[in-house]
Amino acid sequence: MPEKSTPASKVLDRVLVLEMVRVTEAAAIAASSLVGRGDEKAADHAAVEAMRKAFDELYIDGTVVIGEGERDEAPMLFIGEKVGGAPGKGPKIDIALDPLEGTTITAKAGPNALAVLAAAEEGGLLNAPDVYMDKIAVGPGYPEGVIDLDKTPTENVKAVAAAKGVKPEEIIVCVLDRPRHEALIAELRDLGCGVVLIGDGDVAGVIAVTDENTTIDMYMGSGGAPEGVLAAAALRCVGGQFNGRLLFRNDDERARARKWGITDLNKIYKLEELAKGDCIFAATGVTSGSLLDGVKHLKGGKMTTESVVMRASSGTVRWIKGEHRIV
Ligand code: FBP
Repeated sequence: MPEKSTPASKVLDRVLVLEMVRVTEAAAIAASSLVGRGDEKAADHAAVEAMRKAFDELYIDGTVVIGEGERDEAPMLFIGEKVGGAPGKGPKIDIALDPLEGTTITAKAGPNALAVLAAAEEGGLLNAPDVYMDKIAVGPGYPEGVIDLDKTPTENVKAVAAAKGVKPEEIIVCVLDRPRHEALIAELRDLGCGVVLIGDGDVAGVIAVTDENTTIDMYMGSGGAPEGVLAAAALRCVGGQFNGRLLFRNDDERARARKWGITDLNKIYKLEELAKGDCIFAATGVTSGSLLDGVKHLKGGKMTTESVVMRASSGTVRWIKGEHRIV
């Protein structure tokens, strides 16, 4: 259930929430010309440039808190970069973004590539370093605490099955198809669960648990921490539960986390700790998938887009279909 108790933010009120969709639309349209062209970098670059430019049209004093990387590794939309057309004047908001979530999907014309962002008041989004995050998520309507990353996959599936009133073998779990998930997938299959394997794109994978039409009950496994924050912002708006724990492969990654003020490296983050207060989530489909239709290029230079924009304080979810013409 949407958290109606979240106070509406005056700061986000002043931002035209719907305008956020223009930003994700611009990135998705730019990336769409490169769908299936086998060039991940070119598709990402096109989305980044378009998103950067679209931010300039917004009357905001924005700061990228999750972006394309640190300043020395990303020419644009790097962490700490100021975006928006009203620096020092407009409302101060923090932005987590992924201009192209699913670069490989786009290059191979697979499903569920998105242009995506989340926005919150200053300090509202976790400054997640670009490391992996262990994730577990479930949709709305379950008792608080039904999932717990400290428990085994078997215990979590059994708890969700009991709360749903079904057998564990009736639970469907979405998992990124990676060799590192071999043991997890085997454990879930031993339980008799249905395992939906996705090649990439765990923002859409996590959000799928909130949509009954997907029939996916749970999301499990590790993926990018920035994607974890983006998915958490969406779940704050539509309901559901999420646990995330940062995973570090070396000291450099631990140092990155400390640099962003993270002291407890084993902490399990819940929704409110990843995206707190009022927040907005916006996404436009680049390729079609469970969440959104992708950009379609039609005759006469016409293009269609599908986007979603959600807000935590109101729980409002708007689906927006756009028609665009090259003029
Ligand atoms: P990119 O758009 O950066 O390629 O990310 C795609 C993605 O599948 C994410 O959705 C996911 O969180 C992450 O990659 C998983 O990382 P890895 O491919 O290293 O397992």
